[in-house]
Amino acid sequence: MNFDLVIKNGTVVTAVATYQADIGINGEQIAAIGQGLHGRRELDAADKLVIPGGIDPHVHLQYQLPNFRSADDFFSGTRAAALGGTTTVIDFVEPQAAQTMLDGLAARNAEAAGQTVIDYSFHMTIGPHEIEKLDQVAAAYAAGCASFKLYMAYGMRLTDDQLLRALQAIRDVNGLPVVHAENWDVICALVAQNLAAGRTEPGWHPHSRPSLLEAEAASRLIDIATYVGTRVHIFHISCAEVVERLADAQRRGLPVTGETCPHYLLLNCGVFERPLPQAARYICSPPLRSHDDQLHLWRALGQDVVNIVTTDHCPFTQAEKEQNLHDYSQIPGGLPGIEARLSLLYSYGVRDGYFSLNRWVEMSSTRVAQLFGLRQKGHIAPGYDADLVIFDPQKRIVLSTETLHEQVDWTPYEGVPVTGWPTTTLCRGQVVVEDGKFVGEAGYGRFISRSF
Ligand code: URP
Ligand code: ZN
Ligand code: ZN
Repeated sequence: MNFDLVIKNGTVVTAVATYQADIGINGEQIAAIGQGLHGRRELDAADKLVIPGGIDPHVHLQYQLPNFRSADDFFSGTRAAALGGTTTVIDFVEPQAAQTMLDGLAARNAEAAGQTVIDYSFHMTIGPHEIEKLDQVAAAYAAGCASFKLYMAYGMRLTDDQLLRALQAIRDVNGLPVVHAENWDVICALVAQNLAAGRTEPGWHPHSRPSLLEAEAASRLIDIATYVGTRVHIFHISCAEVVERLADAQRRGLPVTGETCPHYLLLNCGVFERPLPQAARYICSPPLRSHDDQLHLWRALGQDVVNIVTTDHCPFTQAEKEQNLHDYSQIPGGLPGIEARLSLLYSYGVRDGYFSLNRWVEMSSTRVAQLFGLRQKGHIAPGYDADLVIFDPQKRIVLSTETLHEQVDWTPYEGVPVTGWPTTTLCRGQVVVEDGKFVGEAGYGRFISRSF
């Protein structure tokens, strides 16, 4: 049989196996895996790894805050993602107060459709004004938003009674709650104390968002979710204390999962010793923690306690980060990172011995697909979407704004060397990156409806 496209001679790496094979693709899907396959087009992957396309279920593209908007739009952000080997992203819908959840979804989809170069989906946010709209949760689920974002921090935060009601509504449709867990009341008090005492520099940011209180929020969330009888996924875990609470919940058999992000693995609060204005760039929440926390997170990934790695990509320019140097609490929070996730995890996770090649694939694709209801993605098997990456394990790159393609004028990984980088990325059978060059097109990406 002659396939539309064959990836030949590669080392196929899945979440459970590593083997030599060709992959035959017809149309948008994987048609066969075997030896000596031929196609109208053939891509040689000798000496390369062939892995399922990365799935990044936590990104903020053209994310509107009251005074700022994240710097990557749906085109530039998904192009950078594709160049880094990611083929699906999940962003967020935040309905306006007067909007239904479905109208919010339609408005957000109108921003993304026609722009994205890889597939995308959305979490539905349940903020305080959605508590009066919980009867719409079933419609949001039916429209493909199978996961629901809840904040325990920021102006969007839910009080515990609201959290309870939101978790009940999500449970009733078999959805997945995904939660930013921090203790907002304590954060507000500590920020006020710091500012009143003249402690206004960015280095005070981690001190006003203590690890112990991130863990307290995670524990409270786990307890309320357990009482309600729902699973729950904890976003952007930054510290050992949360890892311990998560491990404890998992030991008790509770359906609790968690993610961390490359910046919590690769960076620590030592960055706040850099002079102003550079120190201001590293503000994100939860904050960067200690070297010891980094080690705990790497080990927890190896043990599958922290289950997946997402980027929480939320870039702001240097100028935006530097606008409020007199008050760290007003600096827009978030770091760039959508492009280098796979490579950083390979370089500093697999090569440094924290986990295997197969676990790398699992935490960046296969498990993500399973957790978030992406039924056609995350596997290399006939019938699944041909979302595939040819990854050169020997390719060396020094990360910088010159080598990365994120639409922002700085990177927290400036000067960081990596070994291993994607050369070719396919999304649903279409080559969108070839030999490290973007060859895709805006609007190819499709909204993916998710369900469990
Ligand atoms: O500081 C961060 N993480 N900004 C992005 C929004 C969020 O909390 O995930
Ligand atoms: Zn968050
Ligand atoms: Zn986020």
